[in-house]
Amino acid sequence: MADEAEAMSDTAFLAQLADIVGAAHVLTEATAQDAYVVDWMKKYRGRALAVVRPADTAQVSAVLHCCNDARVSVIPQGGNTGMAGGATPDDSGRQVILSLGRLNRIREIDPVGNTITVDAGCILANVQAAARESGRFFPLSLGAEGSCTIGGNLATNAGGIAVLRYGNTREQALGLEVVLADGRIWDGLQGLRKDNTGYDLRDLFIGSEGTLGVITAAVLKLQAAPAVRVTALVALPDQDAALKLFVRLGARAGDRLTAFEFMTHSCLDLVLQHVPGTVSPFATVPPAIVLTELSDTDAAADLAGLLENILGDAITAGEAEDAVIAQSGEQAKALWRLREGISEAQVRAGKTIKHDIALPIGRLTAFMRDCETAVEAAFPGLRFLVFGHLGDGNLHYNLQRAPHMTDDDFYALTAPLNAVVHDLVHRYRGSISAEHGVGQLRRDELPRYKPPVAMQIMHDLKRLFDSRNILNPGKLLQS
Ligand code: FAD
Ligand code: MLT
Ligand code: ZN
Repeated sequence: MADEAEAMSDTAFLAQLADIVGAAHVLTEATAQDAYVVDWMKKYRGRALAVVRPADTAQVSAVLHCCNDARVSVIPQGGNTGMAGGATPDDSGRQVILSLGRLNRIREIDPVGNTITVDAGCILANVQAAARESGRFFPLSLGAEGSCTIGGNLATNAGGIAVLRYGNTREQALGLEVVLADGRIWDGLQGLRKDNTGYDLRDLFIGSEGTLGVITAAVLKLQAAPAVRVTALVALPDQDAALKLFVRLGARAGDRLTAFEFMTHSCLDLVLQHVPGTVSPFATVPPAIVLTELSDTDAAADLAGLLENILGDAITAGEAEDAVIAQSGEQAKALWRLREGISEAQVRAGKTIKHDIALPIGRLTAFMRDCETAVEAAFPGLRFLVFGHLGDGNLHYNLQRAPHMTDDDFYALTAPLNAVVHDLVHRYRGSISAEHGVGQLRRDELPRYKPPVAMQIMHDLKRLFDSRNILNPGKLLQS
């Protein structure tokens, strides 16, 4: 009887959704839902009552009002490139995926105020292009920029390769438009650089991973476009040299230092092995490698000369073994491919247990030494893939199985391995989630490391914003 009533109520409920967004944008067939119910890493797979694709903010509001009334959970989804399982439904088949993909208008560009107002479903690369076409620069940049959306970037406070110079997504946002669980719309799109009228609601929603509200639009800062960039790949004798080079570059280049990406030799090995068309500019794969970039808005700036000078001094000081400075845009792209190909190479090479951690920058290499010792002692033979945004103190501390292990044996190590890595991160007063967010991946570990008062405040806020717990339940916080 209950199933029959449920089936009846589902039909009526889905009809209501179809009345709001149009039947073509309520996907109930498993095949039509496939791209939405599995995450990018193929680590999480769920089932959805429906995928709903609203066209605008008013429809998002009506859908949420309807779901809140019916107490049906809503999983906001942008580009589905998240790495914490935050946009994947559970396997109940009772949740609705709210896809923001159709909210993809660039609403306004203000070249004087240096702002761009966009729908949340805009793909990051399209926002970068719109800024470029208006003679400006939108600096947020990450490997998924061709698919990830501004709403997802804000909801995860995404980082990427330009945080060192421009900050995380949080620092790019001036205002938000958000739809609350009950359908109310908060219009916070004034885009003022100063507005001290109470609690910072904007920053509450940024990084909330779809658990407090659905972001439907944002006012973002635009920057002056760099007129000159110079990119180099640097071979290092060891990982300690990376920090010395970072200090040297920062002291000489100042805020023209826009990227400082680190990788161990095993990462470069993996890319050369699995990513077609990649070539190392070095005769042998160095023990550690840095990809760095300087940029300046002044076309006359001799950045290549400056970088050559700094790297020459580093080599003389024994901090670097070799360096290649890109002589063209194409060569710079080829060097970046060696860094950005790591994500893809990991997926191709097999199972990886990932850690997206942040440490106080000055203690990074001490941490890397201690962590390698601790992991080797506890789990001999694992392959270390350590890379990331060293300039932000953010490492992707990823491990692959030892040759003698089966995939199952390896995956069975996830919890104890996480504990070894994250306990050490905690001892170093770092963070177990630097830029990817908590999602479902880190949800159960979070209370082990975050102060109890902070956890209580977050649960209190969740109850206040979403009393029926329909917004992305089980993500970020244990329900
Ligand atoms: P989704 O995956 O769709 O969703 C992510 C989370 O945000 C979910 O919890 C979802 O519920 C929520 N959400 C999505 N849209 C909204 C909305 N409009 N309102 C409220 N909540 C919403 N991340 C980095 O930070 N730095 C990197 O360098 C980086 N590199 C990557 C490289 C590759 C190859 C890939 C595949 C991913 C990478 N990522 C990186 C992870 C991912 O791209 C980011 O987390 C990105 O911000 C997710 O955007 P999305 O639109 O795909 O969000
Ligand atoms: C990156 O910086 O490439 C991603 O954040 C990490 C990853 O793809 O594992
Ligand atoms: Zn990253």
